Amino acid sequence: MKTTIKEAKNYIGQEVTIGAWLQNKRSSGKIAFLQLRDGTGFMQGVVVKSEVDEDTFATAKNLNQESSMYITGTITEDTGTITEDNRSDLGYEMQVKSIEIIHEAHDYPITPKNHGTEFLMDHRHLWLRSKKQHAVMKIRNEIIRATYEFFHDNGYVKIDPPILTASAPEGTSELFHTKYFDEDAFLSQSGQLYLEAAAMAYGKVFSFGPTFRAEKSKTRRHLIEFWMIEGEMAFYNHDDSLEAQEQYVAHVVQSVLKNCALELKILDRDTSKLEKVKTPFPRITYDDAIEYLKQEGFDDIEWGEDFGAPHETAIANHYDLPVFITNYPTKIKPFYMQPNPDNEDTVLCADLIAPEGYGEIIGGSERINDLELLESRIEEHGLDKESYEYYLDLRRYGSVPHSGFGLGLERTVAWISGVEHVRETAPFPRLLNRLYP
Ligand code: 4AD
Ligand code: MG
Repeated sequence: MKTTIKEAKNYIGQEVTIGAWLQNKRSSGKIAFLQLRDGTGFMQGVVVKSEVDEDTFATAKNLNQESSMYITGTITEDTGTITEDNRSDLGYEMQVKSIEIIHEAHDYPITPKNHGTEFLMDHRHLWLRSKKQHAVMKIRNEIIRATYEFFHDNGYVKIDPPILTASAPEGTSELFHTKYFDEDAFLSQSGQLYLEAAAMAYGKVFSFGPTFRAEKSKTRRHLIEFWMIEGEMAFYNHDDSLEAQEQYVAHVVQSVLKNCALELKILDRDTSKLEKVKTPFPRITYDDAIEYLKQEGFDDIEWGEDFGAPHETAIANHYDLPVFITNYPTKIKPFYMQPNPDNEDTVLCADLIAPEGYGEIIGGSERINDLELLESRIEEHGLDKESYEYYLDLRRYGSVPHSGFGLGLERTVAWISGVEHVRETAPFPRLLNRLYP
């Protein structure tokens, strides 16, 4: 019977064959412990010299790291005779009978010793096979699954905005420029403006796709290419949008807790912190955040300035949950945000700051729905009005209040997995100085 490591639990006491790679091994004169992986999980194979033929034991003893094989044996409950760190995460192992080598690997570059990050990044295509990277990608996969579940269950329609665009929602400084035959084009830095058009056609919409920012930032939170989940809702004011956002984020966290317990354990994630992530999330205005930071001894920050990572972390540390910082100054936010009726120097917007120093994971706002105001903002920001005519049409033909938000997938994966740097949260991250592999 051919099966996988994950499914092997259904075959306790039976003989099965699994296609696998050798991750690591330990052997003595009489017994060999093979650490196997097959993509679905990690499992130990035990080869006892007295129970297999001579060739099989010799094969097991001489197997090189990352050699591939079909391995056959009986699945048993973990006998517990082996040391704690070799113990199967799954609670079962294989008593090996035979091994058919498919391909023998030689000199696999990533050995069990410690390698530097740059070396591992140069070998990202192989590094992905490691147990920790496997766990991070499984959590990323669960976040993606829970995202589709949330939006579909709540009546959103998925709309795919274009990636090649003629206009720039978030300002022109960080655009990747390319030729589009004889025209100029830019890689999308957000699908928002197109989603607004879609919201006027379908009510509640979402998108999930790659976005590009030519930012010269080299921090643990910045990628050049990242995946963004954006929601846009007709007839939602900003408070309605905040409620949707907190429900979405809580759903994602609770789904990972439920479906990725093993992966969180492999990553040593303190899950007690994630368990607290339930709605409602706290909200603090930008004004109050400035006051708070001054009390905390940040003398460098003045009203009107954007927060840096240390400021965000200080505010986040005040709470157990993600926190919304609302109503930022108009002049540090993009052109499309609706003015705050209580203070015209600020806008109806919020950034959601993750706990534990992971920084901003969502940016969102209510959008300007008045044609004249939007036209004057486009002018003030020095944008080319002609390329926004389609966007202005949304305010010409049945304009309605509407709001939306964008969540950065990789930052969210970093936070939930407890991984320090976003470079480990994308399979092949694009960084300031990295386009390979
Ligand atoms: O705050 P941002 O720039 O918001 C927008 O793009 C809006 N148009 C979204 C909307 O309202 N539909 O980006 C949204 C999120 C950030 O909160 C962050 O999580 C992530 O995208 N993000 C990045 N993630 C990784 N690397 C970068 N360079 C990122 N820039 C933004
Ligand atoms: Mg932002």
